[in-house]
Amino acid sequence: MTTPPPAARTAHTTRAHSFNAAAAQYAAARPSYPPALLDAIEEEAGRPLEGARVADIGAGTGIATALLHARGAHVIAVEPGDGMAAQFRRTLPDVPLVRGTGDALPLADDSVDLLTYAQAWHWTDPARSVPEALRVLRPGGTLALWWNTDVNEIAWVTEATERIERYFGIDLRAERHMRPHDADPSGRLDFVRRVVRWSRRIPVDTHLANLGSHSFFLVRDEEDSAAFLAEEREILLRTFPDGIVEEVYDVRLLIATTP
Ligand SMILES: C[S@@+](CC[C@H](N)C(=O)[O-])C[C@H]1O[C@@H](n2cnc3c(N)ncnc32)[C@H](O)[C@@H]1O
Repeated sequence: MTTPPPAARTAHTTRAHSFNAAAAQYAAARPSYPPALLDAIEEEAGRPLEGARVADIGAGTGIATALLHARGAHVIAVEPGDGMAAQFRRTLPDVPLVRGTGDALPLADDSVDLLTYAQAWHWTDPARSVPEALRVLRPGGTLALWWNTDVNEIAWVTEATERIERYFGIDLRAERHMRPHDADPSGRLDFVRRVVRWSRRIPVDTHLANLGSHSFFLVRDEEDSAAFLAEEREILLRTFPDGIVEEVYDVRLLIATTP
């Protein structure tokens, strides 16, 4: 893998840390993940989550951790950010949380059956996070990475994505569709891909708060982001006059079992 230039690395780090200032908004507005995703993880891992030793990395406010915990897994969460960790502790006071990153996991060798990264692997450096995953997973353990991604064949989603890409100068689709080779350029992990489609119906303001909790908004000047969201609200209310938006997601799962 080529090393990105220093300015790109700084921008990446700024975005990786941007969530801390918006942790309450993140917890209230971000989508969760469907039960079928957890079923797919159990199928690919070849074992139930019940009783499994799981570490959820980049746990954030605990959206994925809560689902793993509810299935009876013994979960430990790992999160680097102050704001996200504080929000996590308010939401899931009984689930252990340790501070750290996927690049230097604060976990013992061979200590977990399953390592999960919900929308978080792309913030790690795979040159470090892959060897760390292999170190802490027991032999035959499973690494599961997933992302809620927009379904771009839906017209209003395509149009909104194009508006965001133009305004923020980013390639949203490329950012959210991580291929196995990008997830592990070393090729040590043999990923299986699964896609799970699901949807939720929410008030337009929750949809906008969800949008506004993404890192490309959080690192942008507040007035700029507010102006974009106000215009977006007008456009969306023309498509959804009853004020209820249907967000449709493909959860893209990359899952690999270690030798
Ligand atoms: C988009 S949020 C995902 C949070 C949660 N997993 C979820 O599903 O809602 C990304 C999280 O990754 C964390 N993060 C940033 N850099 C990281 C790193 N190098 N290793 C692990 N997590 C990181 C951020 O602090 C943030 O909480």
